[in-house]
Amino acid sequence: MDPIINAVLKPKSIAVIGASTNPDKIGYKVVENLKNCGYQGAVYPINLEAHEIMGYKCYPSIKDVPYVVDAAVITVPAKIVPKVVQESGEKGVKGLSIISSGFSEVGDHALEDEVVRIAHEYGMRIIGPNIIGVLSNSDKMNASFTNFLPLEGKAALVSQSGALLIAMDAATYTRRVGFDKMISIGNQADLDFADLIAYLNEDENTSCITLYIEGIKDGPRFMEEARKCTKPIIALKAGTSAHGAAAAASHTGSLAGSAKVYEAAFEQAGVAQAEDLNDMFDTTLALSLQPTMKGDNLLIVTNGGGVGVLATDAAEKFGLPLKFAPEDVQAELRKHMPSFGSAKNPVDITGGAGLEGYYEGVKYSYAHPWVDGMVVLYCETSVTDPQEIAEAIYNAKNESGASGKPIAVSFIGGDRCEAAMKWLIEHDIPTYDAPDLAVKAMASLRKQDDMLKTAHNGLYKPTDVDSDLARKIIAGARAKGRDALTEVEAKNVFRAYGLPVTPTVLAHSEDEAVQLAEKIGFPVVMKIVSPDILHKSDAGAVKVNIKNEQGVRDAWKVIMENSLAYKADAEIDGVAVQEMAPWATEVIVGSVNDATFGPTVMFGLGGIFVEVMKDVTFKVAPIDEATALDMQSEIKSSKILEGARGESPRDQKALANVLAHYSFMVYDLKDEIAESDANPVIVYENGQGVAVVDARIILTKK
Ligand code: COA
Repeated sequence: MDPIINAVLKPKSIAVIGASTNPDKIGYKVVENLKNCGYQGAVYPINLEAHEIMGYKCYPSIKDVPYVVDAAVITVPAKIVPKVVQESGEKGVKGLSIISSGFSEVGDHALEDEVVRIAHEYGMRIIGPNIIGVLSNSDKMNASFTNFLPLEGKAALVSQSGALLIAMDAATYTRRVGFDKMISIGNQADLDFADLIAYLNEDENTSCITLYIEGIKDGPRFMEEARKCTKPIIALKAGTSAHGAAAAASHTGSLAGSAKVYEAAFEQAGVAQAEDLNDMFDTTLALSLQPTMKGDNLLIVTNGGGVGVLATDAAEKFGLPLKFAPEDVQAELRKHMPSFGSAKNPVDITGGAGLEGYYEGVKYSYAHPWVDGMVVLYCETSVTDPQEIAEAIYNAKNESGASGKPIAVSFIGGDRCEAAMKWLIEHDIPTYDAPDLAVKAMASLRKQDDMLKTAHNGLYKPTDVDSDLARKIIAGARAKGRDALTEVEAKNVFRAYGLPVTPTVLAHSEDEAVQLAEKIGFPVVMKIVSPDILHKSDAGAVKVNIKNEQGVRDAWKVIMENSLAYKADAEIDGVAVQEMAPWATEVIVGSVNDATFGPTVMFGLGGIFVEVMKDVTFKVAPIDEATALDMQSEIKSSKILEGARGESPRDQKALANVLAHYSFMVYDLKDEIAESDANPVIVYENGQGVAVVDARIILTKK
């Protein structure tokens, strides 16, 4: 655990620089909150004139405090912050929480940089600026200007929005979702999400980490820390509009967008993305209280058929479809229900079911090895007391002899149900007021288990690549002042990264084209090679299915004429002659560099699927072959690859290999490749492989 970050988040002594005697000021509130929450450490208010604030002795400067100070909370106007940071450094303070606004969020990057520079000069770390502060139940510390500590619990919130943190702090009581820590990180001038994930992963009072994110500064580092984190992370991402897409020159660029890339990055790093605030609270409740679900067998116990059906629908919707319970489970459960109940799944112990039905049903099921997780539903009835049912569920789970499986509960009814659910949460069982929400919580526990496993895999790195050769080809194009490779150059780069490109050679004359075509073997394809004509088909500069010598000569003439008509002064290297790959399923593979996460790889089916339906999926590069297979099943048109309408399945394994190698290429050459496309890539029947037919690489600006 980083001792400096620890000093900011768990300080033994705090100075409040800008503490005020005026109860309306933030500098007063922070001192008041520290006092009222029962903080056990030393508090040193710093004020130019006051002698004492709320019973604490005041000092005119932090340098006058005669004791060790771990952390300083700064509440003076922005322009005074550099001065007090300097003084804190001279005093030997370890870390700072800078509440003051007026830095990069209003465009003053220079002031913010200056503050970070001074802090780092003295080895100090900063939370903020532009924050509410830091709250911690386990340290009885409210070093902020929100009035109270959150409902006690095991989650930690890191929020980029201060106002939202204050609102969530209050809402923890009405939502009954407990947090140990709430950390406002504001502008992330120094400590960012990645630092706090690393810290909280080692914090014994944190069981899950909830993030409210507007923007991540360093995407790869965020992913690295999230991947290393062994605790569940939930992120609510705000501001998901597409950026940078309009100016993009390639297919992939126009299809990318920050929302899709964030989504991919979260998934790849094992971060559960919340849909909205409600979902963020609901998922936090489940992930902070329960273990992950290790298998797919969800068992639902209910006293109402209707809510059982609603839960069954939800299970299918959220990707955890119910299966019938094994016969031995059903036989045992039937002993504890009337003859008109159902022991299948959902297990309907019927409306007359009382304590015994719930207790025995839950106890037996929870312990059964087939069951990976349970949802228990209860509709309020006149013959049962919700509190007694809650206690029966709790006792049954504890007395079952099993552990390590998640359980979620939903009570549907009035005030008595509310009170019983509150009691269950206090006993670490997440509860929801609708059956679908309890099922959704289980689905997120199931998904979390998968994500925590796969996210820890190391970065993919194939060995059959020749990056020196690729860099030589790129340097050659740059030496000629070009910022895009020709098709032949791009294909050679692809080949250097192990991609199966169709043989393509450059002809400088009509006669040479004939010779090369005869060597390759008919039919062939001919395309213009010109740095000035990237969209070759639009220029009428591609001819396919050329069957003989005369065809080559005719194509040469037409391609030259059309190219010059398209751009009279186009620089023309010649005409590429390539093997005509037999037709099969066309797909597109591409890449674009995302401003936050770096190179990303895109995949979709070609033609109408990509042009009209925009049916594509993204991942942050590099990806391994397993993730490449996931990409293929993520697109809506995945059935076509699997073999739809009597067609035989395509070679998805070979395609996964291509996607993985491609992703490594764009990752390895991220300083050189801005955007790229392999479009089309032809995918043959299972075992027959893949052919990359066209290649485009646009270089980074240097
Ligand atoms: N050392 C110690 N105290 C100093 C000082 C110094 N060098 N210079 C000034 N002070 C004192 C002031 O005298 C004042 O105390 P007083 O009331 O006893 O006179 C106190 O620090 C605060 O300074 P003041 O100038 O009164 O500022 P303020 O309280 O009106 O506002 C901020 C200060 C930081 C709260 C304000 O600038 C700000 O940034 N507000 C927004 C904060 C926010 O919302 N953050 C979260 C965003 S999500």
